[in-house]
Amino acid sequence: MGASNTGLRAYRVGDLARLREICVLTGAAGSDATGRWSTDELLPDLFLEPYVTASPEWAWVVDEGDGPIGYLVAVPRTDRFVRWWRAKWTPWFAERYPEPDEPYSPEEELVRRGYHPEVLEIPELEEYPAHFHIDLLPGHQGRGYGRGLIENLLIPALAAAGIPGVHLTMDPANSAARAFYEAVGFTPLPSSTADAPALGRWIPPRS
Ligand SMILES: CC(C)(COP(=O)(O)OP(=O)(O)OC[C@H]1O[C@@H](n2cnc3c(N)ncnc32)[C@H](O)[C@@H]1OP(=O)(O)O)[C@@H](O)C(=O)NCCC(=O)NCCS
Repeated sequence: MGASNTGLRAYRVGDLARLREICVLTGAAGSDATGRWSTDELLPDLFLEPYVTASPEWAWVVDEGDGPIGYLVAVPRTDRFVRWWRAKWTPWFAERYPEPDEPYSPEEELVRRGYHPEVLEIPELEEYPAHFHIDLLPGHQGRGYGRGLIENLLIPALAAAGIPGVHLTMDPANSAARAFYEAVGFTPLPSSTADAPALGRWIPPRS
């Protein structure tokens, strides 16, 4: 595939604050989500920090020498992650975000994810147990880092762990990300819909 490892490295705990910022700066269908929700902590509290807390060894960053400019955070087994979330992350989350009552606003729908990690359980979980999030700052996109994170780090690590497939769910408004995922070998899963795209990639076992 020709993807390079240059500028890619394993996650370190000291990266967390910067990665939380990147999560917000790319959190509105790939664009800046600063100020979109009543607190900028919400997106990283749902889509970044639980991942590096549960499985820091499944997180990698892009760093050209001045600190992280992008990341990929993954979990190899979504079912285990959901159990971990319920036991560990929901109590943490509940101290910071009150559980919403119906009718739910768009922000309250997001907050509910902190209480209901089973939303991560797509029907194809047995075949595609892993899932991930990937975000690069504008200005560092389109230079091969996304492909490098997937081809050189995520897929080999999953293959070595014997994980048969990886999936992602995404905002349907993010057409650039959709083109990227298709370029790096992801195809729509049977449960995928126009409103809630779910893409997967099979991982051949290592011979
Ligand atoms: C989506 C993202 C992770 C892709 O990473 P990237 O480093 O920009 O992509 P790469 O340079 O590695 O591109 C890999 C392939 O995807 C294709 N691709 C990437 N962005 C594309 C776009 N906007 N339109 C069409 N194709 C695209 C490239 O053409 C390339 O194909 P090639 O290797 O065959 O030439 C990155 O742009 C990003 O973080 N965007 C903002 C946050 C975001 O949307 N995250 C995903 C949330 S679901």
